[in-house]
Amino acid sequence: MRRIRLGRTGAEVSAISVGTWGHGGAKTVRGRPVGWSGHDDGLAASALRRAHELGLNHWDTADVYGDGQAESLIGALWGDIPREEIFLASKVGWDPGPYRHFYDPEQIRRQLARSLTLLSTDRIDLYYFHHCNFGPGEKYLDDAIDLFHQFQAEGKIRFIGLSDWKASKIARYAPRIDPDVVQPYRNVVDNTYRSSGLESWIEDHDTGVAFFSPLKHGLLTGKHDRPPDFGDGDHRSGIQDFQNPEVLAHYRRCRAELQDRFATQPEPVLRALVGALLADTPTGCALVGLRRPEHAEAAAAAGEPLSNKDAKWVRELYRQSS
Ligand SMILES: NC(=O)c1ccc[n+]([C@@H]2O[C@H](COP(=O)([O-])OP(=O)(O)OC[C@H]3O[C@@H](n4cnc5c(N)ncnc54)[C@H](OP(=O)(O)O)[C@@H]3O)[C@@H](O)[C@H]2O)c1
Repeated sequence: MRRIRLGRTGAEVSAISVGTWGHGGAKTVRGRPVGWSGHDDGLAASALRRAHELGLNHWDTADVYGDGQAESLIGALWGDIPREEIFLASKVGWDPGPYRHFYDPEQIRRQLARSLTLLSTDRIDLYYFHHCNFGPGEKYLDDAIDLFHQFQAEGKIRFIGLSDWKASKIARYAPRIDPDVVQPYRNVVDNTYRSSGLESWIEDHDTGVAFFSPLKHGLLTGKHDRPPDFGDGDHRSGIQDFQNPEVLAHYRRCRAELQDRFATQPEPVLRALVGALLADTPTGCALVGLRRPEHAEAAAAAGEPLSNKDAKWVRELYRQSS
């Protein structure tokens, strides 16, 4: 697996890194599905072990994935996997606990203590603000930044990350937070990385990048023949495109085209979808949700950046009639 330097962190991490949102299983919060159905603890643990064997050394999790379930699953593996061989990232920000806001300092302290316990570790390598809602008038922002710096001084976290579904929000808050790593949503169809101004911030500040949902939760792989029934607690049931036969047919055609154009390469579909994102970001990796050992194996065979010409071709292919 190719490694990249994750910007100024200096960490050498796998170009395809491991996403563990799905490892939290199905989950509903205030009536909204926010998890993934079809989770199996044994399979997920095997996927993580296989990922480690194959050199996928950067694992991304969060306090809220399965309300700690994904973190616990990781924390149970250090008997088999040396902790220092994994660059471990977690996040805080979506569970307000008993407080008025997710970023109440007391809540952040509680969540970090809980994450360290569940992950069975003394230190998290990369700790993210999970989103950019810092309250009315950004009331919670300054204290939250101070707190993260205090955690660094105490040795509880190494680097500071900033994430959001909107790249424009990350770009807006990056000058205040000065993150070591940003985590934006990006794939070949949902792509505001450049237009938001985030790309130029990253280039100017040598920031590390971890693109999340590069397969749009599996949708872009074109593997769905018909609208899937995800069941309760699966966030994908709220995404219209999964239920639209025309969109699914378009992505199946894209899949066939990718298999044809990149036929001489292993894992042509994955390689194209991820390689198109890595083409313009030397300090970037892609976080792919890996719930099965075979998906870890596929990821290990991909991870090379496409040429700019191929990346443009892939983006245009997906744009046609989608
Ligand atoms: N910061 C944030 O707000 C945020 C938000 C979203 C995600 N993330 C992070 O980014 C990670 C990845 O995002 P994601 O899980 O939303 O989506 P993703 O990586 O775009 O898609 C993951 C899904 O794609 C399918 N898949 C993976 N490899 C495949 C392969 N080789 N062939 C066919 N299908 C394959 C699997 O579906 P099945 O399991 O159904 O087979 C897998 O669960 C998350 O796990 C999380 O760590 C962060």
